[in-house]
Amino acid sequence: MSTVHLIDHPLVQHKLTLMRQKDLSTHGFRRLLKELAMLMAYEVTRDMPTQPIEIETPLETTTGQVIDGKKLVFVAILRAGLGILDGMLDVVPGARVGHVGLYRDPRTLTAVEYYFKLPADMGERDVIVVDPMLATGHSAIAAVERVKEVGPRSIKFVCLLACPEGIAALQGAHPDVPIFTAAIDRQLDAHGYILPGLGDAGDRIFGTK
Ligand code: URA
Repeated sequence: MSTVHLIDHPLVQHKLTLMRQKDLSTHGFRRLLKELAMLMAYEVTRDMPTQPIEIETPLETTTGQVIDGKKLVFVAILRAGLGILDGMLDVVPGARVGHVGLYRDPRTLTAVEYYFKLPADMGERDVIVVDPMLATGHSAIAAVERVKEVGPRSIKFVCLLACPEGIAALQGAHPDVPIFTAAIDRQLDAHGYILPGLGDAGDRIFGTK
């Protein structure tokens, strides 16, 4: 069974609580999501490999460690995943970016793919799939399945909010993919929304409702 990493740092919890509030502006929601994504990037990249390089300080030569940002690929599940991408790229600007376009069929709640684009040479890359909400798990499962087809070195999944149903579904389909989340909420409702949740993440990021 894959591990679930709950990122419950006080700063993360504080910002998430502000984001849940229904009266928060679109601008405020987007700004907080970006800040949260930066904090979550810190946790999810904790085991990223580094390599030594020789550098000159003003006083002498020394050896420091650097990451190879280009080996990292953030894969955003469209469209709400774009809201997390911004903050993550601020922290790892050298990362490559992939996109998986999926929409939820409102009747069956299953994921239907309409777009898929990843960088080349995926065999030597570490992938972090991002989507703010792990609800039914259908989109996450479908996105990870497609990413696995190109055989990356590793895959992680990052969301802002998860629920027990989504975690169980993703773990059942992809037991090798660790899940990083800022909170695990109570349950899914009949329409596939997380309770208490924060509403429709895409609508709140882009102000479409
Ligand atoms: N997607 C959302 O945007 N919100 C939910 O609560 C569930 C899925």
